[in-house]
Amino acid sequence: MENNAVAQCIGEPTEPTNIVILGAGGDLTKRKLIPALVKMLRCGLLHQDSKIIGVLKGRSKKQWLQELHKGMQDYAPDIPMGDAQWNEFSAMFSMVNGDLQEEQTYADLAESITLLQMHKNALFYCAVPPRWYTTIAAGLHKEGLADESEGFRRVVIEKPFGMDLQSAQQLNKDLQELLDESQIYRIDHYLGKESVQNLLVYRFANSILEPLWNRNFIDHVQISAAESIGIEYRANYYEKSGALRDMIQSHLMQVMTLVAMEPPVEFTADAVRDEKIKVLRAVRPIDPGSIKEQTVAGQYGSGKTETEDLKAYVAEDDVSPESVTETFTGVRFHIDNWRWQGVPFILWTGKRLPKRVSEIVIRFRKPPFNLFDTHATPPSANSLVFRVHPDEGITLRMNAKMPGLTTDTQRMVMRAPYAENGEDVSDAYEVLLHDVLSGDATLFSRADEVEESWSIIEPILNNWKDRISVKRYRAGTWDIPGMEDLFENCVGGWHKPS
Ligand code: BG6
Repeated sequence: MENNAVAQCIGEPTEPTNIVILGAGGDLTKRKLIPALVKMLRCGLLHQDSKIIGVLKGRSKKQWLQELHKGMQDYAPDIPMGDAQWNEFSAMFSMVNGDLQEEQTYADLAESITLLQMHKNALFYCAVPPRWYTTIAAGLHKEGLADESEGFRRVVIEKPFGMDLQSAQQLNKDLQELLDESQIYRIDHYLGKESVQNLLVYRFANSILEPLWNRNFIDHVQISAAESIGIEYRANYYEKSGALRDMIQSHLMQVMTLVAMEPPVEFTADAVRDEKIKVLRAVRPIDPGSIKEQTVAGQYGSGKTETEDLKAYVAEDDVSPESVTETFTGVRFHIDNWRWQGVPFILWTGKRLPKRVSEIVIRFRKPPFNLFDTHATPPSANSLVFRVHPDEGITLRMNAKMPGLTTDTQRMVMRAPYAENGEDVSDAYEVLLHDVLSGDATLFSRADEVEESWSIIEPILNNWKDRISVKRYRAGTWDIPGMEDLFENCVGGWHKPS
């Protein structure tokens, strides 16, 4: 199939900015933020006069820079970064040594920005656990660092944004007392994935899809994120979170809004977000009585792959042996509006599954009358699959005649890779950092969206308080108890990624 590969360096150059990373000694900085900034700089998307200021404690600047350099080699080996190149890049860096709790840290930061200042723009990236968000916003506010009279001041907040509806509302309220909503960029890295954005282009730049994109033709939608990894070193967070909070409330529900929303009147942040929130408002409230039928919760037990033995979740470091935290969740949502009445949206995610695949599957209805059903292989329902990762691209599954003298059918799969070469696909953090620097909030969640999505899953969270419904599954398999039932009356059933 013809495909015009997307070059990763396409984009508007951004203005010189002080990029302040709060919590710059953590994993996110070395794994994601620094590689993304390096790529942007090389592409000319990050202004070479920009500065990167790390706020952290317990390390000298030299140690910190060494860690970042090693991080580049470990997590971004595709970006060549010898000593000379690193030294050149690291000239952009400065560091504020301080505790985020101390007022002095923000005073030092203000001074450091003033000293560096050839320009007045600043982006503050909160690469820290959520308990620090309000403290940071208060520190910035107090030092006048959030004042936009001389340049933009934008604050990026990572997920999780709250742990339930009440805490999300409180966090919104606290932040909005200190910052203007337009300064708050609630990041959801799924929305920065190129193939998720491609969904919007695919939907709204191709007129052939619109007549099909509704209950008359679509049987159901599956949105999934399967992971082969376990919880790694994140037990402290994951034990309190679980898969429903970690992936469904944020990433997968955001993707659902993009699949289901009406065409926005223009491609601007508020127009797009106005349509997304309408989808969330139309999600049918989950009746506590039907939670058993509408949800699945599982936890991985021990298992094996061809090469390794996999530990059970309860045997992971820092996990309680009695833990009933779910590492797999599936939820069947309904959207009560004209377009989607009667079309289930099934969102599912899990850790320690056989492979890492994230997809959006649009499964169409069966033909109203099937001429070929009596043949050995009856035709299957058509599916349009958006592969979010890996192998980003779009696949259309259709039926065709088997070569030969019969009318036996065979599955025909048409693939359109998103880019000729997977390396051409930008990392989500490059896209999102570029958007923050450009002031484009389209791919960031607004306060009302976050609260609405928490209120949708609140009945499940309440019902699962004791998590008695969590069933074990064998690590490294698709044997998740209850998953087939979640697809009751859905044409073709559960699509396990291949
Ligand atoms: C994070 C979750 O937000 O997304 C992780 O906290 C998960 O648990 C990760 O592993 C998945 O992201 P990606 O981009 O690897 O699919």
